[in-house]
Amino acid sequence: MSKGKILVAGGTGYIGSHTVVDLIENGFDVVSADNYHNSKAGVLDGIEAITGVRVVNHTVDLADAEATAKLFEKHQFDGAIHFAAYKAVGESVDKPLEYFRNNLNSLLNVIDGLRRQGSSNLVFSSSCSVYGNADELPVRESTPRKPAESPYARTKQMGEDILYDFCAKHTDFQAVLLRYFNPAGAHPSGRIGEDAANPASNLVPVITEVGAGKREKLTVFGSDYDTRDGSAVRDYIHVSDLAHAHTLALQFLMEGRSTENPSLFNLGIGEGLTVLEVIHAFERVSGKSLNYEVGPRRAGDVVAVYADRTKASQELGWEPQYDVDDIMRTAWAWEEKR
Ligand code: UD1
Repeated sequence: MSKGKILVAGGTGYIGSHTVVDLIENGFDVVSADNYHNSKAGVLDGIEAITGVRVVNHTVDLADAEATAKLFEKHQFDGAIHFAAYKAVGESVDKPLEYFRNNLNSLLNVIDGLRRQGSSNLVFSSSCSVYGNADELPVRESTPRKPAESPYARTKQMGEDILYDFCAKHTDFQAVLLRYFNPAGAHPSGRIGEDAANPASNLVPVITEVGAGKREKLTVFGSDYDTRDGSAVRDYIHVSDLAHAHTLALQFLMEGRSTENPSLFNLGIGEGLTVLEVIHAFERVSGKSLNYEVGPRRAGDVVAVYADRTKASQELGWEPQYDVDDIMRTAWAWEEKR
C-alpha cells in the first residue's frame, strides 16, 4: 500500500531524481514537476531502470502561479518536496533578480497549492550557505545565520523566513527545512547522476569533466584562505545519503513527530575537506592525475563550512553511508558512462 502521494518539485534535477528513487523504494507514490531548466527528460529512464516505476513529470514552470495552480487541480498530494530552484552561487551574483524571481515564486506557489487543497507536509531545500561566514564550526542548527554572501544564499534565507512566518500563522501546516552541505556523487547503480543542462560549476562535476578530458583544466578558486592548505573547506555529502534524508523527513512530518514548526536539520557528513583534498580523493580513486591550477577567489564563496549533524541523526534517524572516496568513485563511474 502506498504511503502517500508526494509532489517532487524539481524531480528531474540532480538531488530531486535521487530523492524520487528513494521515495519509491520506501513505498511512496511520486509525481514530479520540472520544466527541465537544468535537467533532461532522460533521467526518467534512469529512475525507471532502478525502481521499475515510470514517474510522470509535469513540465511546469513552478514560478508561474497559474500553471502551478493547474497542477494542484490534477493531484491531491499528501506532501511535497521543494527542490525547484536555481543553484549556482556565482551566477546568482550576476543575475540576482532571476534568482529571487524563480526561487521565491516557485516556493510561494507550491505552498499556496498545498494550502488550498488542505495539504501540509512540505520539505524545503535550504542550504548551508544560509550560515554565511559562521562564527562557529562545525555549524549547528542553532548557529546564527550571518549575512548571505550571495543572492543564491539570500534566496535560501528568505525561503526559510517565508516558511517560519507561514507556519506561525497556519499551525496545522507542517514544514521541514533541510540545510544541505555539498551534495556530490551519483547513484551507485550508475543509472542516474548529475546531468545538468547548464555547464557544471560545482567542484565534483568539474573535477570529473577535467578527468574525462571534456575540460582542459580545473581552477582552484583561492589559495590564500586561512585553512589547512589555503583552499576553501566544505562538507561533501553523497547525493543518495542526502536523498534518503528527505524520505525520513517526510515520514517524520507524516507521523507527527516534529516538536517545532518548521523543523530544521543540517545535512552534511560532519567533516570539512579542502578543495585540494577533494582533488586528491579523485586522483586516488581514479588513478589519474588531475590538471589543475590555482586561481583567484570566486565571488560569493565562504571560507569554510561543515556540519554538526547530531540533530538529524537523533530526530530523523539519519546516518550517512558513504564517504568522500565513494562520492568520487560513483561520480567518476557516472562521468565515464555519460
Ligand atoms: C554552494 C552552497 C551550497 C549549495 C551549492 C549549490 C555555500 C557555502 N554553499 O556550494 O549550499 O548547495 O552552492 O550549487 O555557498 N571550486 C573550485 N573550482 C571549481 C569549482 C568549485 O575551486 O571549478 C571550489 C569552490 O570555490 C568551493 C568548493 O570548490 O570552495 C565547492 O564549490 P561548489 O561545488 O561550487 O559548491 P559551493 O559553492 O560550496
